[in-house]
Amino acid sequence: MFKSGVNRKAETIAVLDIGSSKVVCLIGRREPNFGVRLIGSGFGVSAGVKNGAVIDMEAAEAGIRTAVEKAERAAGVTVQTVCVNVALRSLRSQHMNVQTEFASGEVADRDLKRVLTSSLSELSQPEDAILHAMPLNWSVDDESGIRDPRGMFGKRLGVDMHFILAGVGPLRNLAHCIERCHLDISSVTVSPYAAGLAVLTEDERDLGVTVIDMGGGITSAAIFRDDTLVHVDAISVGGKNVTNDIARGLVTPSEAAERIKTIYGSALHGADDEEFMVPCPPMGAQDELHHQPRTVLTSIVRSRIEETFELLRDRIIDAGLEEYAGRRLVLTGGACQLNGVRELAEYVFNKRVRIGRPHGVLGMKDTLAAPDFAVATGLLKHAFMESTEAISGPPDLSGRRYKQKRYTGNSWGRSLQWLKENF
Ligand SMILES: Nc1ncnc2c1ncn2[C@@H]1O[C@H](COP(=O)(O)OP(=O)(O)OP(=O)(O)O)[C@@H](O)[C@H]1O
Ligand SMILES: [Mg+2]
Repeated sequence: MFKSGVNRKAETIAVLDIGSSKVVCLIGRREPNFGVRLIGSGFGVSAGVKNGAVIDMEAAEAGIRTAVEKAERAAGVTVQTVCVNVALRSLRSQHMNVQTEFASGEVADRDLKRVLTSSLSELSQPEDAILHAMPLNWSVDDESGIRDPRGMFGKRLGVDMHFILAGVGPLRNLAHCIERCHLDISSVTVSPYAAGLAVLTEDERDLGVTVIDMGGGITSAAIFRDDTLVHVDAISVGGKNVTNDIARGLVTPSEAAERIKTIYGSALHGADDEEFMVPCPPMGAQDELHHQPRTVLTSIVRSRIEETFELLRDRIIDAGLEEYAGRRLVLTGGACQLNGVRELAEYVFNKRVRIGRPHGVLGMKDTLAAPDFAVATGLLKHAFMESTEAISGPPDLSGRRYKQKRYTGNSWGRSLQWLKENF
């Protein structure tokens, strides 16, 4: 399972984006005064991952090994621990306000610790693992919006916590798969959070913005506001569903459908869609190449992507977060590169939409400055960032209820890091 070993002071860190279509390994080195420099990258085809979850150990392992070995060779280092991403359909946000009374009059470290501990023990559920625990806002008596409550006087200390949870089963499979590659996990970051860190500007994160990472097998969203992550969501639909819809609708093999999607596909109808005929290779030897008007292809693509966007939009509205989600939307992931997707997102979400390209890491070649490398780049930035989270290290996948001693930096690696790192 996940092992301890996060080293925030490390000079060289490897990250692994295990997607449903590809595996990316990036190795970065701390560059004094300049942030992070990329020193090696490697890619593998992801064959054993579906909708973000490992479904075939051997195939997934092969993809990870290929990506890591290539990156190791390029960087000239050996990788032992990795920071990995997670995007699963069970991903969800939970907010909690916890209040405790204290007697001393002045807020001290131990009071903060007590509130954080009590929020963790209130939350813990055996079927979920806590991936992130972020204190958003502290309050002392009736005063809220406090960044550091220590030294303040009062009787009641409160904190608004944002927890990000995911089903423990698929996480165990992921951990096992990485372990089979003889790698240790030093931390886990949810994909849309990483994507946001890679592509957003500080202003966007501050004013309110939604990021949607459109992968091959999963589409995930994150909402940032006041420079913090306030919500995540995921649905198990992605670019592969568009390809499958095309293969079925145009009666052509999946490989041909993938090619048709990238060459002729669009989420918006064009002026010559009726006349333009798309060549569709035959399914078998006895069939012949046939042609279909592009308007049929566009309708197939549009209905799948429109449905995906509407689903996410409605879930954000249902969560009461429409106002928090901001006036801007940034798209990342391979599937956002399809023609017309940006415009369709503008229409469905009624927001200003742009395609997000990763930035902020030195030494990135142009080929990596593409939306499908946002998650990997974000993982690297996150790995070198000062943590603002209450707990650090890999998640506890034991399925047992929260126990304070497990969060004090023992072999599970998770510790109440926040106190140490934030002040
Ligand atoms: N130029 C393009 N036009 C249209 N679709 C594209 C293009 N390039 C890539 N895609 C699609 O993007 C998807 C892969 O995206 P990405 O690499 O972000 O997925 P992933 O990270 O491996 O998977 P996931 O995040 O869902 O687990 C595929 O479905 C692919 O068809
Ligand atoms: Mg992805």
